[in-house]
Amino acid sequence: MSSFDSIQSGVQEHYRHRDLATAIFAALTAAGKDPDNLRPEDLAPVDEFHIRGRQATLDLARLARLTDTMHILDVGSGIGGPSRRLALEFGCRVTGLDLIAEYCRVAQILTDRLGLADRISYRQGNALDMPFDDASFDVVWTQHTAMNIPDKPQLYAEMWRVLRPGGTLAIDDVLAGSGGPVHFPVPWAREPSISFLASPDEMCFMLEETGFEILSWRDTTVLSREWFRAVLQKMQDKGPFPLGVHVLLGPDFQAMTRNLVRNLEENRIALIEILACKP
Ligand SMILES: C[S@@+](CC[C@H](N)C(=O)[O-])C[C@H]1O[C@@H](n2cnc3c(N)ncnc32)[C@H](O)[C@@H]1O
Repeated sequence: MSSFDSIQSGVQEHYRHRDLATAIFAALTAAGKDPDNLRPEDLAPVDEFHIRGRQATLDLARLARLTDTMHILDVGSGIGGPSRRLALEFGCRVTGLDLIAEYCRVAQILTDRLGLADRISYRQGNALDMPFDDASFDVVWTQHTAMNIPDKPQLYAEMWRVLRPGGTLAIDDVLAGSGGPVHFPVPWAREPSISFLASPDEMCFMLEETGFEILSWRDTTVLSREWFRAVLQKMQDKGPFPLGVHVLLGPDFQAMTRNLVRNLEENRIALIEILACKP
């Protein structure tokens, strides 16, 4: 097996879940929600699979000035929380792309239940070889996905290719901090063989080398630490929540969260929000 194939299968193994839809509906029921009368906010604890949850999505969307005439590509769309939020809040059309077939299936089920299928669809595929024509999208959007992708020049080249000239690239990602190597497991990798964090300098260099013009660069590490402190406090006060990202990742999610917080506190990771354009 080539190292490319072994990384892809490592990532697929990491996010593997045999029947995620059943697990999510059971957790929704345990949380007192009605899966047959689902509201978008019911899903927020589980479907925004990134640090700072919905707030991070809304911050980036406002920065990108999304409108209802835009077609957005969400690269690494997970189970679809960000795509549904963008369609609901800004009326835009969204296509989600994700490596994990089960995530695409569940994303579509949840989207159908919320009556958003006319605006959102999902494709299983690899961000390094996207199944889309050149210049197909007004905005390429990505949250917490590049950490699993070693060939970042190819990733940004693909994003460039599918974006129309004048289009926007919106990124919310985890980068390497200055505090040393990451403690594992973390939510995107149980061990280092599928974790690839660029430093802020490398990230800036790669985007500019690809041809992007960086319009905005915001370090959200401090905000992310504060967000985690509030989440942990809430868990301490109210006990564990039935519905959360642990439904996606399984029992070692607690260790992943502990390490994520430690990595943040020790500056081993940095959170960055970037807006760039294809001139
Ligand atoms: C931490 S989740 C974030 C999901 C979503 N962006 C969100 O914020 O809710 C990372 C996602 O990236 C996807 N991913 C990782 N490598 C990928 C690749 N090469 N191509 C497409 N998707 C990929 C994973 O399958 C996973 O759904």
